[in-house]
Parts: sequence; structure tokens; C-alpha cells
Amino acid sequence: MEKVVFPVAGLGTRMLPASKAVPKEILPIYDRPAIHYTVEEAVKSGFSKMIFVTSRGKEAILNYFDRDVELEEVLMARGKREMAEFLKQLSSLAEFISVRQGIALGLGHAVLQARAVVGEEPFAVVLPDDIVLCEPPLLKQMREVYLRTGKSVVALYRVAKEEIPSFGIADAEVKSDGNVVIHDLVEKPPVEEAPSDLAVIGRYILEPEIFSILEKTPPGKGGEIQLTDALRVLAREGRLVGLVFEGTRLDVGNPRGLLRASLEIARRRGVKI
Ligand code: UTP
Repeated sequence: MEKVVFPVAGLGTRMLPASKAVPKEILPIYDRPAIHYTVEEAVKSGFSKMIFVTSRGKEAILNYFDRDVELEEVLMARGKREMAEFLKQLSSLAEFISVRQGIALGLGHAVLQARAVVGEEPFAVVLPDDIVLCEPPLLKQMREVYLRTGKSVVALYRVAKEEIPSFGIADAEVKSDGNVVIHDLVEKPPVEEAPSDLAVIGRYILEPEIFSILEKTPPGKGGEIQLTDALRVLAREGRLVGLVFEGTRLDVGNPRGLLRASLEIARRRGVKI
């Protein structure tokens, strides 16, 4: 398993007005673009092919991972060797591939656009709005669950009661062997109707069968083709498991979350603010 799909073709309306001219994935979290952190997690987890599902105006994401030899030379001439080396290694982190989603018809539809590039192998999906800080990296832990169970895997995060209505929540059962079987997923339930406090966050390992399910998935909530609706098909067939992880999740898809993430990452790097 070597491929990760990053759906980055959304409109990013919560990040307006900044995201009108700059993809939200390029907005800095302390000193580097948001997308950097999730690509780094994927690389540390042993993935080597990053597939971006992009749309108009998202070119900056691919530019970031390209070589800029002229800039590197200028930095070297000015004695900034460390930054020149840092920029140089970005392009060799992985192989970067881009596919397009012409119209934003939903997350499920975005994943479906990667079908031809992914082929008939299991693959990961990462939503770069979720930055996860944990050791070993979350995707690596999920890969191990996949290898152990042979089933598609979603990442689950325990949330406080008042946060439940903002998430997709899993109807999940923890088995005696530690595996978490998911029976169903409920989108943004009221607290009293929630089957658990386990929220689905933006990390998935998927069997390629998800593509044929997505193909048949009609538009759901908001008129969009939802990945959750396809995952529910897997769940009901007993083909979806969860990994409840311990660690920090930072939601960088909205201005407050982005600010909080910047502060948290700066603090972890020992920067005085
Ligand atoms: P969101 O639902 O968070 O939408 O998408 P968004 O456009 O990113 O942000 P808001 O809500 O308008 O502020 C979840 C993920 O799915 C991708 C987004 O880029 C994001 O990574 N997505 C969503 C697509 O790639 N295509 C779509 O049609 C919809």
C-alpha cells in the first residue's frame, strides 16, 4: 500500500475571505503550509505516492512540492544553506500526482476521481483539514489495523458531549481482541441520539471496492456525493473497522482552529510567542 488521496478540491468557504485567492491548504500553520503536515505524516507512515484531487486555483499546492532551483541558488548564495536544503528535499519526499475534480460535487465524488490512478489496491484518504499529532503517526497505526483485519479502516476520536453534533459519529463495538467493529455511521446526531462519542475524522484506509460503491452512491446531504454514505454500505456489511487513537487533533479548516494549531505547533517547537 503506497498511495494516499488528498481531496483538496473543496471551496473552503469557512476560510473566506483568505481562501478566495489562496488555497486554504497553503495557509501557514506557524511557518509552513497546512498541507505540509499531512504529507509528512503520510511519508512517515510509509506511503510514497501522494495523489491530490485538485480544482481551479489550487496550483499552489503542487508548486509547493516542486523544486525551485533558482530560489535554492539565491538562498545558497546568501548563506542560507539550511533553508535551501529544506526546500530541496520537499520534492523528494514522495511522488506527487494530480487529478482534477471539475465541479465540487462532494467528497465522495472527489475520491472517485482518483480511481484510475489508484487502481485495484488498498489506499489511504487524508483530509488535510485534520492535523493529527501522535506517535506512531496515525496513518501508520491504521495501516497496521488494515493488515491485521483486511478491512477498510476509519480513524475514531473521542469527543466531548457538546461536540458530538458537529461530527459523523460511529455506532461502534469494541471487541475483546481490541478490534473496533463499526455497525453504522450517523451524521451530526443530537447528543441524545448519538450511538457513541466516537467521531470519524479525516483519515481512512480503503479497499478499492469503495469506488464501485461510490459510483452508485446518489447525492446525499447538501446535494453532494458523500464518502460517509459509501462507508455506511461497508459498515452494514461488516466490512468497516475503526481505530480509536490517542493524540491531538487540530482542525485547521476554520480560522479559529488554524490560529490554535499555529500556537500549538509553535509551542511544541519551543518558539516563544
Ligand atoms: P468540506 O466539507 O470541509 O468542504 O470538505 P471544504 O470546501 O473543504 O470547506 P468549507 O466547508 O466550504 O469551509 C472536506 C474535504 O473534502 C474536499 C475538501 O477539499 C476537503 O478536503 N472536497 C469536498 C473535495 O475535494 N471536493 C468536493 O466537492 C467537496
